[in-house]
Amino acid sequence: MGGPKKVSDKKIKAFIDLFDNHAAGAVKAIRDYHLAHEKLLTAGLIKATHSGKLLLSVQDLTKSYKVGRQKVEALKGVSLDVYEGEFIALTGSSGSGKSTLLQLMGGLDKPTSGSVTVDGVVLTKMSDRKLSEFRGRTIGFVFQFFYLQPFLKLGRNLEVAGMFARSKRHDRKDRISELATAVSLADRVDHLPKELSGGQMQRAAIARALFNNPKIILADEPTGNLDSVNSQAIIELFEKIRTEFGTTIVIVTHDKEIARRADREIQLRDGVIV
Ligand SMILES: Nc1ncnc2c1ncn2[C@@H]1O[C@H](COP(=O)(O)OP(=O)(O)O)[C@@H](O)[C@H]1O
Ligand SMILES: [Mg+2]
Repeated sequence: MGGPKKVSDKKIKAFIDLFDNHAAGAVKAIRDYHLAHEKLLTAGLIKATHSGKLLLSVQDLTKSYKVGRQKVEALKGVSLDVYEGEFIALTGSSGSGKSTLLQLMGGLDKPTSGSVTVDGVVLTKMSDRKLSEFRGRTIGFVFQFFYLQPFLKLGRNLEVAGMFARSKRHDRKDRISELATAVSLADRVDHLPKELSGGQMQRAAIARALFNNPKIILADEPTGNLDSVNSQAIIELFEKIRTEFGTTIVIVTHDKEIARRADREIQLRDGVIV
């Protein structure tokens, strides 16, 4: 093998010039792109999307349930990435595996195989105790049927998550009024759930999910039990939460309007993404 070929200084100079021109062109193109992007954002012509940081990653997830001697394969190898600040709609017909996927993404259940990573932590490798502590800090859940404690006043319902996190009572009180205001329920803090409407109960459940300032909210058909006016209010609330707190949001929904308003729709069919 001979040594490297001698290249003339002239050739090197020409190459450097060419490279500089390309680099300057690229820098200008990127700057133009950002300026144009900002203008479109300001004009409301495009939506603010995510920061580009990977927050949740699902790899080759499968989940089977045993029902008697029968095996149900609810998820048959699902992979997806969710970026910080994204608003995602998870859709698909009944029985396609949406709730199963959402529960696995939130570490509420263990997959048959595959992995779930949230904020750099592999949930599928964690002990139950560590997982439940991590979940409380990082993930907020919202369900179709609210699951408020019927015997606790709204304020107490909101702080349940904070009690597990062993925060101080005084700080929790501040947080309760802050969140009750954010979901327009400041005047209902001393009411029992049965004294609230469906829409108000769901707003309370969302406030509860926000208590520990989670990075991500996972909501399973949060408007499934509400009329269209209340559904609309809930979606606007999620949009506000995403904008104001930067919370990443994944919503399981049948509602076409919600899917349309999301940054991205992920559709499941028979346990796979289509
Ligand atoms: N706990 C369970 N035990 C047995 N089968 C289940 C269980 N949960 C879900 N399944 C089955 O897994 C499949 C997917 O269910 P699910 O994730 O609830 O779908 P979706 O939320 O899209 O309606 C369905 O066939 C359902 O019957
Ligand atoms: Mg479901």
